[in-house]
Amino acid sequence: MKNILVIGSTGQIGSELTMELRRRYGGGHVVAGYILPAPPMGELKDSGPSEVVDITCPDMILDVVKKYKIDAIYNLAALLSVVAESKPQLAWHIGIDGLFNVLEVARHYQCAVFTPSSIGSFGASTPHKMTPQDTIQRPSTMYGVTKVTTELVSDYYFHKYGVDTRAVRFPGIISNVTPPGGGTTDYAVDIYYSAVRGEEFVCPIAEGTLMDMMYMPDALHAAISLMEADPKRLVHRNAFNIASMSFGPETIYAEIKKHVPSFKMRYEVDPLKQAIADSWPDRMDDACAREEWGWQPQYDLPRMTADMLEKLRARLL
Ligand code: SER
Repeated sequence: MKNILVIGSTGQIGSELTMELRRRYGGGHVVAGYILPAPPMGELKDSGPSEVVDITCPDMILDVVKKYKIDAIYNLAALLSVVAESKPQLAWHIGIDGLFNVLEVARHYQCAVFTPSSIGSFGASTPHKMTPQDTIQRPSTMYGVTKVTTELVSDYYFHKYGVDTRAVRFPGIISNVTPPGGGTTDYAVDIYYSAVRGEEFVCPIAEGTLMDMMYMPDALHAAISLMEADPKRLVHRNAFNIASMSFGPETIYAEIKKHVPSFKMRYEVDPLKQAIADSWPDRMDDACAREEWGWQPQYDLPRMTADMLEKLRARLL
């Protein structure tokens, strides 16, 4: 990877991934692709080039790939799970029509492509405990339907055309920078903001609902190290289970309370979010990622919680 385009660079993952890629490859080598009305701001704007790249417009992708001699594309354009349920046609248009646009440009200009999948690619009939790498994927959400399709189409372009496609199945991502919007796992981010602001947290997910979660530094490391991995070692490509921690609301609440003893939480379960959460794994088995490209997370729940609270306090208080 010498010249990289990040599509969706102002989103939850894109904003931090773009900065991390610029630290590693140099600011001038990483183009921040964005859509209006959300242009890059601050550090993201100042640290390298940015271009309007609407994933649903093939010519915009093509022009930027040619202009900057792009050889790797991180495609992070997507609607998260809850929002996708309210706009399923748009979720498909961005997720799948957009993916075809990226893959067609990649095929003609020899670009590697990373398009993440998710815990959302699994469904109620998937084994929920230590979910295997290769197993039943029958998601009931449009988000999940687009993610399974993304995995299949990405593998298809690799086998049929030799496009170097690789991806991970992200757990719920927790970060203190750009907040997520419209996901089922958002509660595990929102809870830290409530704790730092001294507010009671109203939890939309029921006690005992386990889901895989991951701290942003591990998620960024996963995406970049998979793209840098020796292709000869990869048995799988789209997409690898990766895991670092799995918990329910009561466990993250108890961990935060060690730092904020007065913190209060009550449950007000959102039926849509709960139904989605119940259909997702309790915990994925990430043995293939560990074996094939050396995946190794750094953060567990206690270490993440200490860091989240420290960073949010410094920013919000
Ligand atoms: N964080 C995503 C969501 O909740 C799952 O990958 O939609």
